Amino acid sequence: MKIISLKSVLWITALVVGAQAQAQSVADELAKYRAMLADGNPAELVEAQGEALWKTLRGPKNSSLEQCDLGKGAGVVKGAYAELPRYFKDANAVQDFESRLLYCMVNLQGLSRDELVAKPFSAQGERATDLEALTAYVVGESRGSQIKISQKHALEKAAFARGQQTFYYRGGPYDFSCASCHSTTGKRIRLQDLPNLTDPVASQKAFATWPAYRVSQGAVRTMQWRINDCFRQQRFPELKYASQTSVDLITYLAVMAQGGVMDAPAIKR
Ligand code: HEC
Repeated sequence: MKIISLKSVLWITALVVGAQAQAQSVADELAKYRAMLADGNPAELVEAQGEALWKTLRGPKNSSLEQCDLGKGAGVVKGAYAELPRYFKDANAVQDFESRLLYCMVNLQGLSRDELVAKPFSAQGERATDLEALTAYVVGESRGSQIKISQKHALEKAAFARGQQTFYYRGGPYDFSCASCHSTTGKRIRLQDLPNLTDPVASQKAFATWPAYRVSQGAVRTMQWRINDCFRQQRFPELKYASQTSVDLITYLAVMAQGGVMDAPAIKR
């Protein structure tokens, strides 16, 4: 019994080969584009904006952020991002970089947490928010530093465990978890490669390259933004900026990326 003709077999084969070639050529073009842009990453301007802000006297307490303790002692910025999230005694909590930044802006400068978290991310085409600019500056000071996340404190271990649970937690209208999209190698949605975040090498690469300048949005996007956007893709309720769940997930991702070398702000499509 003949199910399909030889002609249609040839036609289907040609179609599949053609589609593969097309996907490959688009991937090649994207790689070229990235290489071209890496010579002059627009994130550098945002880093400069952030560095100036870091050193400016601001807020009701008229002080700069230079005394902010990012975990390596007050005033030490170099390499600090690569060791976050971590437990902070003064806050009695595990904080990722952006939560720690909020803590310093509130406690050192007297700024309002509510006002800061009301609009943490810039809209397309807008100037970077203070949180984005400060984050770009501080992460840039960890370029070349090894990701080294402490898991000694009980709260650090608890944050990782909850983060892992959240990563595998399925829900929403599609019954998706983070793992639904991020636990197989070679998966893609349209033309976007989906990193396998259960693989150490892919996790290192992903963590090391955020925050990033997003060409498609003309803006520097932070790790909090990244997680927030994936929550949206997962059709989960909106993730609150610097919430416990966001810190837990970032702790999970950071621990999975142990030993990677920071190379951010990177540049992404
Ligand atoms: C519906 C599929 C989907 C789900 C579910 C999803 N993501 Fe993503 N994620 C993506 C896509 C698509 C990208 C790449 C986006 C791009 O290239 O613009 C991405 C990118 C990322 C990145 C950055 C990787 C890199 O190398 O730049 C991280 C980190 C990440 N996701 C974490 C998560 C976490 C944590 C969750 C669960 C809260 C999650 N994702 C859920 C689709 C998903």
